[in-house]
Amino acid sequence: MAKPKPIRKAVFPVAGLGTRFLPATKAMPKEMLPIIDRPLIQYAVDEAREAGIEQLVFITGRGKTAIVEHFDMAFELETTMRDRQKALDALAPTRIQPGNLLTVRQQVPLGLGHAIWCARAVVGDEPFAVILPDELMVGKTGCLKQMVDAYAEVGGNLISVLEVPHDAVSSYGVIAPGARKGKLTEVTGLVEKPRIEAAPSNLIVSGRYILQPEVMQILGRQERGAGGEIQLTDAMAQLIGRQPFHAVPFAGRRYDCGSKAGFVEATLALALARPDLADDVRRTALELLGATPLAKASAMGC
Ligand code: G1P
Repeated sequence: MAKPKPIRKAVFPVAGLGTRFLPATKAMPKEMLPIIDRPLIQYAVDEAREAGIEQLVFITGRGKTAIVEHFDMAFELETTMRDRQKALDALAPTRIQPGNLLTVRQQVPLGLGHAIWCARAVVGDEPFAVILPDELMVGKTGCLKQMVDAYAEVGGNLISVLEVPHDAVSSYGVIAPGARKGKLTEVTGLVEKPRIEAAPSNLIVSGRYILQPEVMQILGRQERGAGGEIQLTDAMAQLIGRQPFHAVPFAGRRYDCGSKAGFVEATLALALARPDLADDVRRTALELLGATPLAKASAMGC
């Protein structure tokens, strides 16, 4: 196999309205909700950079400017902090090489496939990555890096997959698994939000993709799928058989930060993994979980 073209660009669909987190997301993009002290989008960008991504492409919409501001130089803040001799280290992850952050507006919410298609001019004829920031993937090696390493071996298209309970498959894209090749599984079919009885497996598409640019032509046909939306899953399904297509099981833990329970879980898990917070958070969590009347009262803020 010829050496696959490197993955230099990552597309982040961030135009969603975030209605599940209202009213928090009325005036603030859901991607800016923080897990402890980093907004969700920062985790996604950190993961992309670890995987060697150079260009970040945000598919945005109205009311999403805070995301772009977050990755801009904050001149007044930095000057004031410098004057007060405060370290600027916390801002380091927000710095982007000039020219390496691009935004494209998705003017109408026609689905994930449509959002990705909006990036076609920026992606051009290169393979590219897609990261859904709602899905927070935490591993010793980041999810996209694990995928880029696999891509160097097999090329083509890759998606990360996770096992979920059978009765949960209808909320996701689901793969039909084929032959195993070491850690990878060949993808022989893909279906978006199937009925439980019709699901080909319980392996779901978990929000990380490496795709060949041909997917853009398929998305350009604007065919509607599940929920009347233009689905990325349906476009990918049409690549199967024409190009290599593999699933990478993620070695790590996934938090569904598009749901409130998943968001709390991520916050707790990441706090417990931080040396500066772990002891305090563990103590508080145990106290809140305790059955004493005092613990119950304090959990209710009394
Ligand atoms: C999207 C994708 C779906 C994938 C899911 C992961 O669905 O369409 O294939 O499994 O993200 O979170 P959505 O959550 O936008 O409905």
